[in-house]
Parts: sequence; C-alpha cells; structure tokens
Amino acid sequence: MRIEDVEGELDRILLTEEEILTKLDELARQVEEDYKGKRVPLLVGVLKGAVVVLSDFAKALNFHAEMDFMAVSSYGHGTKSSGVVRILKDLDADIHDRDVLIVEDIIDTGLTLSWLIENLESRGAKSVKVLALLRKPDAMKVHVPVQYLGFDIPNEFVVGFGLDYAEKYRNLRAVAVLAKHVYS
Ligand code: PRP
Repeated sequence: MRIEDVEGELDRILLTEEEILTKLDELARQVEEDYKGKRVPLLVGVLKGAVVVLSDFAKALNFHAEMDFMAVSSYGHGTKSSGVVRILKDLDADIHDRDVLIVEDIIDTGLTLSWLIENLESRGAKSVKVLALLRKPDAMKVHVPVQYLGFDIPNEFVVGFGLDYAEKYRNLRAVAVLAKHVYS
C-alpha cells in the first residue's frame, strides 16, 4: 500500500521504503560478514509484525536463508508489561547447536525479545542474535542486546512495514506516525 492511499490517516512519515530497504541491505552485508564460513543462521520471525521485515531482509542476503516462525502472545490484555509470554505457534526447526537470528519489526518495551532470547537459548542454540528494524529507546523497560539495528525512533504510535493498528497498515510501504484522529 502506498503512502498516498492513506495519507489523511498519517501524521508524518518517519521512514520511507527506500530508506528501510537501504538499511536492510547494509545489515545484510554485516550479517554475511559475521557468519562467513559458518552454517547459515536460522532466521526466526516473530509473527505477525516481523513478516514484512523478514521478507525484505532475507531477499537482501546473498546466501540461502532458512526461515522459521513463532507466534507469541502476552497473557491477556494490559498485562504485556508483566513480560509473561505464551507460545501460540512454536518453531518447526530443532535449534539445538544452531546459530539463530531473531528478526523483529520493533522493540518497544523489550519484554517480548528478552523472554524469547532466553527461551531459544534454553533450547541449546549455539548463539541467539537479534535484528530489529525499529527500537523505541524511551519505551524500553528491559535492556535487550541488539546486534543489528535499523533505526531508533521516538515513542509514538507508528504503523507500516509490519506494524499495525487494529490489523491495518501492516502492508504500508513506509513507517509512519498514525494521526491521532484515527485511534482516539
Ligand atoms: C509487537 C512486535 C514485537 C513486540 C514488541 O508485536 O512485533 O513482537 O510487539 O513489543 P515489546 O518490546 O513491548 O515486547 P505485537 O504483540 O504487537 O504483535 P503483532 O506482531 O502480531 O502485531
């Protein structure tokens, strides 16, 4: 979906598709360098938001990218801050002794990732690293190590490139701040 298709619903554009794809290319070069000579890492996407980023990032890599997916959910509404996470769909792959690269669209509080890293490490992964397109430093409640970061953004309601509001805007070709009249 193009920006002009929903222009009146956006407050402002933070990142264009071109800026995002350029950054994903840069990150792909770094990942290729870091894993040179090793078995390719398993890319783990966290549904649903990460699908768009994982797709573009995987296409930017110059090796065969193996992918797997997890769906997780915090228990109930309003309890996200508890950091308690439930697995709705688990990985298909056995990650014992594998290098794993989690691909996320956004790190908000950091609670999802902090739980996920520990969970994947406890399965015997050789390494667990993180690639995140976006991070909101002002919203973070726990420190999460991020080896490959796209952009730090302000703590505002953003949509696009996988990020939704009520399941809409995920396929927007940009990251944008949603206009207040849309959600208030
Ligand atoms: C988003 C995002 C991360 C998580 C980050 O997913 O994709 O997985 O929130 O938030 P945190 O750092 O505060 O834990 P969401 O729960 O909105 O689900 P979705 O990807 O299906 O939209």
